[in-house]
Amino acid sequence: MPSAEHIESSANSADAYGEAVEGFRHAMSKYPATVNVITTGSGEARRGFTATAVFSATMDPPAIGICVNKSVDAHDALRPDSSFCVNVLAVEQQGIANRFAARDGSKGASRFEHDTWDILVTGSPCLRGALANVDCKVSQFIDIGTHTLILGDVVSVRSDRVQNPLLYFDRGFRQLATESLEMGE
Ligand SMILES: Cc1cc2nc3c(=O)[nH]c(=O)nc-3n(C[C@H](O)[C@H](O)[C@H](O)COP(=O)(O)O)c2cc1C
Repeated sequence: MPSAEHIESSANSADAYGEAVEGFRHAMSKYPATVNVITTGSGEARRGFTATAVFSATMDPPAIGICVNKSVDAHDALRPDSSFCVNVLAVEQQGIANRFAARDGSKGASRFEHDTWDILVTGSPCLRGALANVDCKVSQFIDIGTHTLILGDVVSVRSDRVQNPLLYFDRGFRQLATESLEMGE
């Protein structure tokens, strides 16, 4: 993928650079993603935010990546000795996605008041009823400008629910169609 500098130099003007960024934003809106709530901390220091920039990095050892905007409240709580949980949301948990994206105006630990949270191993809050909880210890930070790419070692998982995932596509929440494709399974 071209870097911002590459787009800038090949585009050759600020306007063309803006158009290239907008084109990339539009292309990424066609990239369907699962919706997750990433949580860290405990008690009044709990923090969480909605995220689609989550990927499984390696299976052996199990590791996950998250991309966190430096402006997000939880960003500074994610330190080298900390942990986080990736909570994969089910389709009926859209309200939780909105809350942890600050769309209801709630902040900090108050976002956690409406739901039930369990502790698995690390102590990070794990949402009961999520499609999956992936409990991790922070392992690496990579500064990528506006965001930090954080890698985590997976120390515990819970994924016993069979439910449809909440998806984000074309700038809105979506759900899977129930029909399988002919060759799909
Ligand atoms: C569908 C969706 C996906 C998002 N994905 C990310 C993400 O991957 N990384 C990120 O830093 N912010 C992401 N955000 C934005 C954060 O959820 C939002 O900036 C944050 O909750 C702001 O509130 P806070 O700073 O009070 O936590 C996403 C928001 C939405 C609605």
